[in-house]
Amino acid sequence: MRKAGMIAVVTFVLIFGYSAMVQAAPNKRLDPGTQTCRILGFDSMWWGEGAKIFRGTCKSCHSRDNDKGAPFLYAESKSPEAWNRVFFQKYPQCAKDGSWGDLSQNDQLLLNDYLYRNGANTYNPYSADCG
Ligand code: HEC
Repeated sequence: MRKAGMIAVVTFVLIFGYSAMVQAAPNKRLDPGTQTCRILGFDSMWWGEGAKIFRGTCKSCHSRDNDKGAPFLYAESKSPEAWNRVFFQKYPQCAKDGSWGDLSQNDQLLLNDYLYRNGANTYNPYSADCG
């Protein structure tokens, strides 16, 4: 009986801990450009399509110590909301001068999903965000 109780407690702690960990990263994103709710699944993880586009298109300039005059950028350089603004307003000079190449609308959405999901302060198991 005592043993069963222990197992129940351990199981509870594991499940609770895991769900707290998973919820630390956002799992949805309202895209301001298309006004659609994006579900942040597999493709928004660091091994997914969005990360590949980031490495392939953006990191050619935004790598550490680059000679292109581009600031070093990685997902945590900006908060999720700030990344949304980058793609909604396309304010960086590189977005205006064609350096983003021929990224389709869908590529941009996937890239935005990845950066949003992994943006600053999204990985925090002790997140104060209780909503
Ligand atoms: C050909 C090189 C090049 C490529 C490719 C490139 N950038 Fe840039 N980017 C720059 C340079 C140079 C600047 C700084 C320009 C300035 O602000 O005057 C910059 C600035 C930025 C900024 C503003 C910096 C900040 O701290 O807010 C953001 C955001 C950004 N780029 C995002 C991206 C993203 C996302 C991609 C990929 C889709 C990308 N860039 C691809 C060269 C590039």
